[in-house]
Amino acid sequence: MQLPTPVYKPAFNITRASHLVSRVRDLGASRAFYCDLLGLVVSDETADTLWLRGLEEACHHSLVLKVGEQPAAERIGMRVLTEEDLDLVQAHFAAAGFPTAFVEVPYQGRTLHTTDPAGTPLEFCATMEPRERLFAHADRYHGACALRLDHFQIVTPQVRESLDFYNGMGFRLSEYVMAKGSLEMVFLQRKGNPHDIVFANRAGPRLHHCAYQVPETHHLMHVCDLFVVKDREGQVEFGPARHFSPGLARFLYLRDPDGHRVELFPSHYHTIDIEDAPVEWEAPAFKVGGWIVPPDRWWNDTMAFAPR
Ligand SMILES: [Fe+2]
Repeated sequence: MQLPTPVYKPAFNITRASHLVSRVRDLGASRAFYCDLLGLVVSDETADTLWLRGLEEACHHSLVLKVGEQPAAERIGMRVLTEEDLDLVQAHFAAAGFPTAFVEVPYQGRTLHTTDPAGTPLEFCATMEPRERLFAHADRYHGACALRLDHFQIVTPQVRESLDFYNGMGFRLSEYVMAKGSLEMVFLQRKGNPHDIVFANRAGPRLHHCAYQVPETHHLMHVCDLFVVKDREGQVEFGPARHFSPGLARFLYLRDPDGHRVELFPSHYHTIDIEDAPVEWEAPAFKVGGWIVPPDRWWNDTMAFAPR
């Protein structure tokens, strides 16, 4: 299979996966999951919205939870470096035929709403209100001690189209999975570790998961213990184990009270230099010692994006 030629100097600088906006039914239940168990901290809250960030995050939010009648993913957020980059991203999406609109979003600078070829609702911003990094505040560490948002995984039949489109915006292909000659998964990154966004071949567009980095492997085990003592072990879906597959990270997948899937992992590798070529895998690519295959619901139970 011919891979696209990497674009090392794109016309604009998208820097990283930044934040997720989701809808939940009960903010109290969500707060217990994300704050008491995962360890995120509250930056702000109202009666119908919770803005959360990880312990090392220096901006206002990486997760926005809004009360809705039905659980849904609303939008994934990415950062660009400058306001000029934001205008160039808008022009790029508009020229490609996608709807674009600048909107007001609390705690964020000028924000661009658009969609990608898979139909994923996206928002880009160059600035967000700063908040103190709490990673030196040992008294704030609890639960899984989630540090920062790392990446998103989207399911869509448009894996090849997504690869080509994101490659054209300067995303580097770190790893990919082939299944009997067709492209099954692509791992795309801007920030220099294996992925900011992953596209996997399933009906979509739907959100598969977001992922937070935690400090150490033992935090994966500790949070499992917490789920057991709180009689919530049914929300532990897959892991803890290691991906002997794309990313090579140790991992744990959890489901929040509304079914949103969150991955926790303690480590990733750098993939930055010009020699770092994409790594090819053949599905099934989830080998751990013997074969650890995700449960069917890991593949097939995903979150719809809210109608817009
Ligand atoms: Fe992941």
